Amino acid sequence: MKFFIDTADIAEIRELAATGIVDGVTTNPSLIAKSGRDMIETIAEICDVVPGPVSAEVAALEADKMIAEGRRLCEIADNVTVKVPLTWDGLRACRTLADEGKMVNVTLCFSANQALLAAKAGATFISPFIGRLDDIGLDGLELIEEIREIYDAQDFDTEILAASIRTVNHVKDCAKIGADVATLPPAILRKLAEHPLTDKGLDAFMADWAKTGQDILKG
Ligand code: E4P
Repeated sequence: MKFFIDTADIAEIRELAATGIVDGVTTNPSLIAKSGRDMIETIAEICDVVPGPVSAEVAALEADKMIAEGRRLCEIADNVTVKVPLTWDGLRACRTLADEGKMVNVTLCFSANQALLAAKAGATFISPFIGRLDDIGLDGLELIEEIREIYDAQDFDTEILAASIRTVNHVKDCAKIGADVATLPPAILRKLAEHPLTDKGLDAFMADWAKTGQDILKG
């Protein structure tokens, strides 16, 4: 499963990209607003730091304007992925942009039928929002399972990009049920490496090592 990071904060992106496990980045209008920065400049900087797909979302609601915005966003860098909402206009824009060879991420997906439409419209990625479904008492992971089953049965290439991830358990569960990508808020990505027994074990190893008085680099 690929790891994308879900932020427009360039400092966070630089730091996490240095770990070597970041395959791409997703942004949305809320994340751009939170960054307080110019969208085009921000996306250009992110694309410089992360060579994988970088999702930049259109702001228009009508297909023709979405297509124009998508084309403009793709001029920024080769790794820009145009993000369009799962509406009929978004699906139309997806078809046109995909036919032009552009990567398209169809976002705000909350049902398996929506995911089916996105795949038929040529989406590179479909973004089911699992956390927002959990927030209203539904089961986001069940949606990922359904989409996996449909895409496998129908032989679609569209990648399932699990979005709106809230917990570390979401990450392992998405991996288990075959999501192709998970986009993680930086705090969740950092938490994945944490375990109290790792910390405790390391403390004990370091205390014992200090008693030996040795230095590997001087050996
Ligand atoms: C990513 O593509 C989505 O926009 C994002 O994961 C949404 O997350 P949220 O539900 O926490 O806003």
